[in-house]
Amino acid sequence: MEGSLLREFDALVEARGGTRSELLRDLVRAEVTRSRVTAGATAVASLTLVYDHHVRDLTERLTDFQHTLGDKVTSALHVHLDHHLCLEVIVMRGPSDELKRAGEKLLATRGVKHGGMELIAIEPAAPHVHAHGHDGEHAHAHAKVARPRRRAAR
Ligand code: NI
Repeated sequence: MEGSLLREFDALVEARGGTRSELLRDLVRAEVTRSRVTAGATAVASLTLVYDHHVRDLTERLTDFQHTLGDKVTSALHVHLDHHLCLEVIVMRGPSDELKRAGEKLLATRGVKHGGMELIAIEPAAPHVHAHGHDGEHAHAHAKVARPRRRAAR
């Protein structure tokens, strides 16, 4: 690695308060997660949209499209930010390429001012045991979700 890149890397390490090895591990994990997403794996996505609900038919178009996605839309949260703007967070689950296309379509809808999507591949059926201590020990298995440390490119 050339010296200038290494100096910037060390500055990042210092800013995060960790070690070189920890940051390298996080970078590798993020890249592995990204490569899995492009392979068409099962994924979850959170899509954030900020839009002006006064734009003609926009709210209806966004809602209609979500209805066409059926049970790929897990949940949606709507916040009225001010007189004009709405914030919507849409959580989806399904094949990564379909979620990516759906997110791109929603983000490209005329009247959508800001937004972005976090797309995360989830691991294939490899349950881990998760113990709770609140009402006596019990354990259950559920899918493990990959946790990238870096924000996805917008
Ligand atoms: Ni609203």
